[in-house]
Amino acid sequence: MTGATAGIGKAFAVRLADDGWDLVLVARDEERLKELASFLGGTYGVRADILKADLSTVAGAEAVEERLRSTRIDLLVNNAGLSLNTPFLKSTVDKELYLLSVNVQAVMRLTHAALDGMVSRRKGAIINVSSVAGFAATMPGSTYPASKAWVTNFSESIALSVARHGVKVMALCPGFTRSEFHSRAGIDMSKTPSWMWLTTQQVVAEALRDLQKGKTLSVPSLKYKILVGVVRHTPTRILRRLARGARVRTGRDTE
Ligand SMILES: NC(=O)c1ccc[n+]([C@@H]2O[C@H](COP(=O)([O-])OP(=O)(O)OC[C@H]3O[C@@H](n4cnc5c(N)ncnc54)[C@H](OP(=O)(O)O)[C@@H]3O)[C@@H](O)[C@H]2O)c1
Repeated sequence: MTGATAGIGKAFAVRLADDGWDLVLVARDEERLKELASFLGGTYGVRADILKADLSTVAGAEAVEERLRSTRIDLLVNNAGLSLNTPFLKSTVDKELYLLSVNVQAVMRLTHAALDGMVSRRKGAIINVSSVAGFAATMPGSTYPASKAWVTNFSESIALSVARHGVKVMALCPGFTRSEFHSRAGIDMSKTPSWMWLTTQQVVAEALRDLQKGKTLSVPSLKYKILVGVVRHTPTRILRRLARGARVRTGRDTE
């Protein structure tokens, strides 16, 4: 479980512990990891190991890959991820590469490491946390939605190739979910209507239900299923016009 210290990852950790899973919790903040591990062990009686790793670095990703290869892991949740609050034109290559290293590169590396054992055991599952943001081009143009389009496409493609080995891979695409995600990026969400928000518990419950059903794509909640359905069936030229219009109306160039 990567990104276990907050938001969706923490909700996965609590729910999986409640279901009786032993866990390996991965994130950078060691204090929060220890606190969570002790809570999960004390409350649910499961074993929760911690692995402090910065997934933006090769060393951090390699430490988690090593753990995936040396321990039997039946479910990998690639959840750690971030957004920036800078439009591409005002961003730096270093910032964009940082985002890609966590949102894309680490997901690919850990998926690869986990599949070795899962395929040979003919058992296992991977949930890659993507986003509804990956379904269409959005203004003001940033690497975040592109990184999530990659995660969704990658997960669905790998799901096809490993299904015959008895292994499941699923892309989880939540909409706006209450967590630390937007405040960490410095994104002001105060004008986002309350009906658009999901809870982390709701996202996790639907994800696990969808995984159980064998789905390769999970979009939690009816409202976001409808939104994604509309986006997927709307001609691209209309979506582009809407995205440009939204940019002009809000004047926002950071998202
Ligand atoms: N919240 C939303 O509206 C939303 C919507 C769609 C998709 N998502 C996706 O859901 C996933 C989880 O987001 P969230 O909303 O739960 O965000 P969050 O509350 O900010 O939590 C992010 C988690 O990722 C970890 N993390 C961040 N950078 C890391 C790094 N370099 N190395 C290791 N761990 C790192 C953080 O832990 P440390 O700081 O301790 O390392 C934290 O546990 C992300 O992939 C995000 O793109 C979120």
